[in-house]
Amino acid sequence: MEMRTKVKLNNSNQMPILALGVWQSGKQTKQAVLSALKAGYRHIDTAAAYGNEEAVGEAIKESGIAREELFITTKLWNDDVRLGKTREALMTSLNKLGLDYVDLYLIHWPVNGYVDAYLEMENLMKEGYIRNIGVSNFKKHHLEDLLSQVHIIPAVDQMEFNPQMQDQELYQFCKENRIILEAWSPLGSGACLQIPAIQIIAERYQKTPAQIILRWLLQKGIVILPKSVHEERIIENANLFDFQLQDEDICLMDALNQNLRTGPDPDHFDF
Ligand SMILES: NC(=O)c1ccc[n+]([C@@H]2O[C@H](COP(=O)([O-])OP(=O)(O)OC[C@H]3O[C@@H](n4cnc5c(N)ncnc54)[C@H](OP(=O)(O)O)[C@@H]3O)[C@@H](O)[C@H]2O)c1
Repeated sequence: MEMRTKVKLNNSNQMPILALGVWQSGKQTKQAVLSALKAGYRHIDTAAAYGNEEAVGEAIKESGIAREELFITTKLWNDDVRLGKTREALMTSLNKLGLDYVDLYLIHWPVNGYVDAYLEMENLMKEGYIRNIGVSNFKKHHLEDLLSQVHIIPAVDQMEFNPQMQDQELYQFCKENRIILEAWSPLGSGACLQIPAIQIIAERYQKTPAQIILRWLLQKGIVILPKSVHEERIIENANLFDFQLQDEDICLMDALNQNLRTGPDPDHFDF
């Protein structure tokens, strides 16, 4: 089965289903983004808090790829949400990225003030600085609260999702409300690659554990943001379109859930 490489958002805009994540890519960010663009990635996932928007911007410029072919995501940091500085924060991010608009702007965490921040993002979208708006680390109850107070349904919710951490309640809610779920730490920051059941499935398909996990997410309709600073892994993580997992293997992967987070719980974090 040939899988489309883009998904239609609830506002009819398109988004590539594979992104390069650049959290903790540090000094290797620019090279990693250049490698990804060379390998065919067109979606980059950064954030103000990652401290590497300039490096992402340099790589975009150096690649020479037309702006309209790219899909760039960045995120509004918690302090700016709390201080009501959404507009200033976006302008700073655009300046660092060297862009006139971002394709997707996300509220990074559900901190106090997120409704006002979101309403300002709606304005910034109308002004053309943002093509799509969404959230990150919002559980079902956060989304329900948000939806009752805003005008535009978020296009995306970006949440930790991998074989060991599957929030089924959120997955269903997003499906029902046409919100695309994006999986952060799709590989469990690397930890999920060691799971024996996944290694066995990988051998059967003659693929790597990373490819099995990423393909499983795609077949569930979840957008993936694997991070790597190694060119061969960046290429490997994009080679997902020449095979298909059978339903019984999808079920095996679904059964690996342990509600085990590698990152903070969005109901209990202190930053
Ligand atoms: N919204 C949020 O709050 C939030 C939170 C966390 C992450 N994110 C986003 O999600 C992205 C991905 O999450 P993540 O960085 O935590 O973890 P991840 O993508 O699950 O895993 C990355 C780790 O796996 C290694 N790796 C990648 N591909 C591999 C492969 N094919 N074989 C073996 N090892 C491989 C990487 O090492 P090397 O780099 O050394 O290759 C790195 O150590 C982030 O970069 C960021 O964009 C968002």
